[in-house]
Order: sequence, then C-alpha cells, then structure tokens
Amino acid sequence: MPQCELRVVEHREPAPEHVELLLEAPRLAADLTPGQFAHVWTPGSLRRPISFSRATPDGRVGLLFRVVGAGTRWLAERRVGDRLDVLAPLGKGFPTPEAGPVLLVGGGVGIPPLFVAAQRWAATHPTDVVLGARTADALVMADDFRALGLDLSLTTDDGSLGERGRVTGPLARWLARTDGGQVWACGPTPMLAAVAQLVGEERPCWLAYEQRMGCGVGACLACVVPGVGGDGQPEWVRVCHDGPVFSSRRLWWAGAEGEA
Ligand SMILES: Cc1cc2nc3c(=O)[nH]c(=O)nc-3n(C[C@H](O)[C@H](O)[C@H](O)COP(=O)(O)OP(=O)(O)OC[C@H]3O[C@@H](n4cnc5c(N)ncnc54)[C@H](O)[C@@H]3O)c2cc1C
Ligand code: FES
Repeated sequence: MPQCELRVVEHREPAPEHVELLLEAPRLAADLTPGQFAHVWTPGSLRRPISFSRATPDGRVGLLFRVVGAGTRWLAERRVGDRLDVLAPLGKGFPTPEAGPVLLVGGGVGIPPLFVAAQRWAATHPTDVVLGARTADALVMADDFRALGLDLSLTTDDGSLGERGRVTGPLARWLARTDGGQVWACGPTPMLAAVAQLVGEERPCWLAYEQRMGCGVGACLACVVPGVGGDGQPEWVRVCHDGPVFSSRRLWWAGAEGEA
C-alpha cells in the first residue's frame, strides 16, 4: 500500500468552512484516476478519506474538504511546509468514458473529484457540468470548471446562485435533449439515488459513493453498503476497495432515496 509523506505547498480557503490543500506529489498527479482518494492521518485513531480535487501539470494534487469535525479541523490548520501522512491513491475511480457526451453531476463536497474527471477527459469528450449545493457559499470550484472552457448549470437549494432547486432539474433536461451519453456523479447518497433513478438502465451511470471508513483498504468492513451481485441478488460491497466509484447498477438503492 503506497504510504507517503506529502508536503503542503499551498493552503487555500475557496469558501467559508472549506479548505483546499495542494500537495507536492508528481507521481500521484500523473497517475491518479478521477474518483480515487487519499486516506489522511489525523490525530486520534482513524485516518480521514478525502477525494483528490485536482492534479496539476507541475506535479501537485489537491484535497478540498469541508470542515465538519475534529479531523477536518486539524487538516484545515495545516500550512505550507507541513507534511501529511497519506495512503494514496486508494480505491477504484471512474472508468475512462465511452465515446460520446458526458455529464458530470456534483453536489457539495462531491464536486472536487469531478473536477479531476473534467481535467482528464473534457478535451476528448463533449462534457456538460451540473453543480449543486445548499447555498452559494458551499458551491465550490465553479471557476475551475469554467477555466477548462466548460459550460455550467448551477443549482442551489435556496436560489442564492443559479437555479433554485436540486441538480436533478438540469440532469432531467440534459437526459431529454441528449441521445446516448453517460453520467458521472458524486454527492450525498440521496442525490446519488435520485441520479441513478433518473438515468435508469439505458445509459452508463457511474457514482462516487461516500461512507464512513476505517482502514480504507478493504480489511475492516467498516464501510460496507448493500450492493447487487452478478446474479442480481443482494451482496455487501466495500466502498473503500470495491469503490468508491460504482456503476449505478451495482448498488442497492432501496431506502436511500430521501431528499435528492
Ligand atoms: C471516499 C470518500 C471521499 C471523500 N471525499 C471528501 C472530499 O473530497 N471532501 C470532503 O469535504 N469530504 C470528503 N469525504 C468525507 C470526509 O471523509 C469526512 O467529512 C471526514 O472524514 C470527517 O472527519 P471529521 O473528523 O472532520 O469529522 P467527524 O467528527 O468524523 O464527523 C463529523 C460529521 O461528519 C459526518 N461524516 C463524517 N464522515 C462522513 C462520511 N464519510 N460521509 C458522510 N458523513 C460523514 C459525521 O457523521 C458527523 O456528522 C469523503 C469521504 C469518503 C468516504
Ligand atoms: S474501510 Fe475498512 S473495509 Fe472499507
């Protein structure tokens, strides 16, 4: 398992309660697959999983996170020159898309891994982007996507930026006007369930799933969620090792819908 110490070379605060740390990591920047994550040591017993938010040509990778508890608060206090102990890259990321249009759908702190997907594939696949958050303050990375020349549809729950409502509105319109194509999404579980339901069985739909984690490498079973086996029967899948990116058909959605 690749354990390494990575030096913080930039500390950004892109939004209130959100921090992005840029780390010097040339090999990771060249090799990582969008959707893979770093399992980062923080004081206490468990590491914290954070998706990579960017990979730059000058050999940096980003971790963009919302400060929600002790682990992310400690990470938010890291400064240029500090070193992070990380296991990375972990998990299975998004597959290279098939030919044809791609729609990226990101919600809240599910947006960052989709930016790595856009960096990798927007030049070779017609790419549309839908980003959503509860409020304008929590909608991160829109300017990064724009800098790649992509058109964005933005939604916020309170209408403070873009269209008032959920990402499912622009998603439904894209599905109605686009023949074929494929959808890549990351966000809260109810959002992923709604995306899977709207996209249905006809088009590829790949989802980056978030779950509390322990080891991060498939050994402790802390992260299991119900999935669908090859025979169509329920089976447990490990988010850290079998995912975090899954085909929507591989996950068992009953009970996950909630509010998208
Ligand atoms: C594969 C993966 C990739 C992730 N990528 C990112 C990312 O790019 N940016 C980001 O901001 N966050 C990301 N997360 C979530 C991040 O790991 C948690 O927010 C973090 O571990 C919280 O640690 P803490 O000690 O600050 O908070 P804790 O004290 O552990 O928890 C604070 C609150 O956050 C909730 N929480 C903690 N972990 C999770 C989780 N995994 N899913 C849902 N709720 C959780 C807890 O239930 C609690 O309410 C990712 C999670 C996974 C599994
Ligand atoms: S976190 Fe240990 S098996 Fe996934």
